[in-house]
Amino acid sequence: MAIQYDASRRLFHLQTDDTSYAIQIAHGGYLAHVYWGARVRGLKLDKLLEYKTRASFSPTTIKDIPELSLDTLPQEYPGYGTSDFRHPAYQVKFADGSTASELVYDSHRIVPGKPKLPGLPATYVERDDEAETLEITMKDPASGLAVVLAYTVFEKWNAIARSARLINNGSTAIEVQRALSMSVDFAHDRYDLLQLSGAWARERYVHRRPLVPGLQAVESRRGSSSHVQNPFVALLERGADEDHGDVYGVSLVYSGSFTAGVEVDQFHTSRLFIGINPFDFGWRLEPGESFQTPEAVLVFSAEGLGGMSRKYHDLYRSRLCRGTFRDKTRPILVNNWEATYFNFDADKIEAIARAGKELGIELFVLDDGWFGKRDSDNSSLGDWFVDRRKLPNGLEDLVQRVRNLDMQFGLWFEPEMVSPDSELYRAHPDWCLHIEGRRRTEARQQLILDLSREDVQDYIVKTISGILSSAPITYVKWDMNRNMTEIGSAKLPPERQRETAHRYMLGLYSVLERITSAFPHVLFESCSGGGGRFDPGMLYYMPQTWTSDNTDAISRLKIQYGTSIVYPVSAMGAHVSAVPNHQVGRVTPLETRGHVALSGNFGYELDLTKFTEEEKEIVKAQIALYKEIRHLVQFGDFYRLLSPFEGNAAAWMFVAKDKREAFAVYVQILQEPYAPLDRFRLKGLDPNLDYELDRDGLVYGGDELMNAGMPVPQFHGDFRSRVYRLRAK
Ligand code: DGJ
Repeated sequence: MAIQYDASRRLFHLQTDDTSYAIQIAHGGYLAHVYWGARVRGLKLDKLLEYKTRASFSPTTIKDIPELSLDTLPQEYPGYGTSDFRHPAYQVKFADGSTASELVYDSHRIVPGKPKLPGLPATYVERDDEAETLEITMKDPASGLAVVLAYTVFEKWNAIARSARLINNGSTAIEVQRALSMSVDFAHDRYDLLQLSGAWARERYVHRRPLVPGLQAVESRRGSSSHVQNPFVALLERGADEDHGDVYGVSLVYSGSFTAGVEVDQFHTSRLFIGINPFDFGWRLEPGESFQTPEAVLVFSAEGLGGMSRKYHDLYRSRLCRGTFRDKTRPILVNNWEATYFNFDADKIEAIARAGKELGIELFVLDDGWFGKRDSDNSSLGDWFVDRRKLPNGLEDLVQRVRNLDMQFGLWFEPEMVSPDSELYRAHPDWCLHIEGRRRTEARQQLILDLSREDVQDYIVKTISGILSSAPITYVKWDMNRNMTEIGSAKLPPERQRETAHRYMLGLYSVLERITSAFPHVLFESCSGGGGRFDPGMLYYMPQTWTSDNTDAISRLKIQYGTSIVYPVSAMGAHVSAVPNHQVGRVTPLETRGHVALSGNFGYELDLTKFTEEEKEIVKAQIALYKEIRHLVQFGDFYRLLSPFEGNAAAWMFVAKDKREAFAVYVQILQEPYAPLDRFRLKGLDPNLDYELDRDGLVYGGDELMNAGMPVPQFHGDFRSRVYRLRAK
């Protein structure tokens, strides 16, 4: 039983294989957070909930119990305005204009499995015995507000999924102004906050800072999870590192604007939270209506960041991602974007595909520029019909030409957008997000379709489905290349305009559900100018994401390392591109470009017809190698060995679940003169097994490789790399 309720202590104890999380119904019915950390057997945890009288600046919440103040009580879902001055998890505006409220316990139930979150992406179970769910109903005594807090305990995956549902049981409408997915209070502040931040072409860099008093948070106000911040933060106990120490991760299954952070209060307690960004958000609830928050996934690891990452990887790979491709190895692809940009015809495409086939590539992807009159990025989004100037015999003919090579065919779309210069926009100028009387700000000469509208959703489903049904297409790249401005909908009344951004996400999720379930044989990869929407929400519909528009192997060291903090390698697209690299101008060896890209969902994105004979041999060998190891890369355990954020090298490895096979990559960034003779240690092997190393054919103990380590390779030149294959004897 993952969830136990001790009625005498009014204590809930949630247990996974290695984690405990405890909640107590405190005096007055307030829901107190008691513990989150390594699994404990006993349930005497209520001793941990201490009260202490503070000065009048932490008010007495219950008259007879002067030592109980909501301002000092660790809470599960704190409100504001009734004596807790800290960062609230929710706030509601009532008909009288007031916004103060508080929640007290009403009832609870424990159910096997995991109820679905209507309209939202979420982790799931395949069988009811994979998880157990606790739902605690809380009520605000002075209003009709009720909140159901849900906790799903994935015992074997060592994760807890939390969400909240706000219900208006009153007789007048209320406005939800803030509804976070979770909040947890820690007893002290001896932690560091870790976040994944960046920009276009340098997504998800790892940043770590010690907590200080006050609010420290990251957020997106862009209408998407964004390149700039990722919907995830972790608290690391001081001194915790990649392999040791307590780490607490919270990850939001959502693709829109979010907030995530921690507030350290006057008593040095730390309140960790994540959820939809309350900034510019509102949601009107008529009597009887409810609002469901997205879900937050909580992971504790006593084995440092690496342990936390592997838990997220396992859960997200198998109980967030869905569909035919969830457990299937992914094809090696060639994409024509950096090879041709908008300038191609059917013969050019067939030539690239043919060259790919000869090298062993399995899938050709036709990127932007095949529809409308799209010769540059200034027109045609929304006009999803083939451009006969470039493809005179139509899409079906091109798909057939590629399939005749015995290759699969994939296609790029940007379905959420409309170009002002398009037939769609001329026909439906009110179909984009906009505010009447204001400029419609363009980014990349495009506007965003208003996906909160059902007619727009239907248009997208119909046009994309039409194309996918017209030819044997087995892969889709779903792109999205700007952020929201003038966030308003022509369909919503004034009092609901602040719902637009979230309604957009719900509309997008509905479109994705309809399209992906209608085409189960299609592998979908999401993209937003690279990794601008690399989040768990998108992974629910599409099991992989284009990690970054930056294809430079050395830039990718940091991007892929940071992404791996939360996301499984099977979710990351990684391609070999031309040199000098189109984003940063760097020249790196083809071997290194290959080694970095084959550490993800492998592909090429350059004109393959231009390879020399020597390059072809290198590429053939890379592709052959990937075919042998891709099950390890995509489904093995991932270990980060050396961080590109900390030194002049990066290294990582993949280990089979049964530990009988492993694959490691070492990349040197810059050549040091007179370099020391250093070593690096492998991880995740079985210390009692002997492994044969392919490089020298010698056999080494797993214990030796993990403790004594291996000599750092001696290179001559920058940006060099080496790979190691290990097989148990
Ligand atoms: C942005 C994507 O990230 C690129 O890979 C490419 O598909 C372009 N859009 C096409 O416009």
